[in-house]
Amino acid sequence: MKNIVILISGQGSNMQAISEARTTEQWPARIAAVISNKADASGLQWAASQGIATATVDHKQFDSREAFDAELARVIDTHAPDLVVLAGFMRILTAGFVRHFEGRMLNIHPSLLPAFGGLHTHQRAIDAGCHLAGATVHFVTPELDHGPIVAQAAVPVLPGDTAERLAERVLAQEHQIYPRAVRWFVEGQLQVNGQRVTQLQGQPQLTLAG
Ligand code: GRF
Repeated sequence: MKNIVILISGQGSNMQAISEARTTEQWPARIAAVISNKADASGLQWAASQGIATATVDHKQFDSREAFDAELARVIDTHAPDLVVLAGFMRILTAGFVRHFEGRMLNIHPSLLPAFGGLHTHQRAIDAGCHLAGATVHFVTPELDHGPIVAQAAVPVLPGDTAERLAERVLAQEHQIYPRAVRWFVEGQLQVNGQRVTQLQGQPQLTLAG
């Protein structure tokens, strides 16, 4: 049984999708804890209602990123994680923190990386005239929004799209690809070779949304 620790900052809809898929599909894994940097993250309440251990490590209580990350890593490690899942966790992590969990930490980013790392991805995709947007699940490396790509979902940008409408359609795809990617990890179905990730059963790592 693998231990998954999920980090959130907000509603945690990806966390919920992962937790529900784990239960429905009976993965060989448990959600050991959900941890937030914000005490009022609504996803914490949902996790607690499911009987999942929750914790808050408030970044505002720390003088430096290093001090915050050290405490966050300490709290995560008390749950003996096999995998750390960043699910809408809105903090830039120090290289030391990332190295500590390297190879066992995944993130989802709402763009087709390597395009549009950082914030405001949907508006930037619309402003750039893209006809395709999407989301990417990747292993976390010290460089922000980089790291070997596990899965991507491509979503068309429609005429007249707003950032909100596009974000909604992308998020629906995030809820499909993130649970799938986490399941592949806990079942040992991912092989990483440099920047390239292979799904060992040949399952599709690209989803094209209509
Ligand atoms: C998602 O779009 C995620 O990709 C981004 O923030 C959003 C979080 O959504 N980084 P949720 O908290 O999982 O609902």
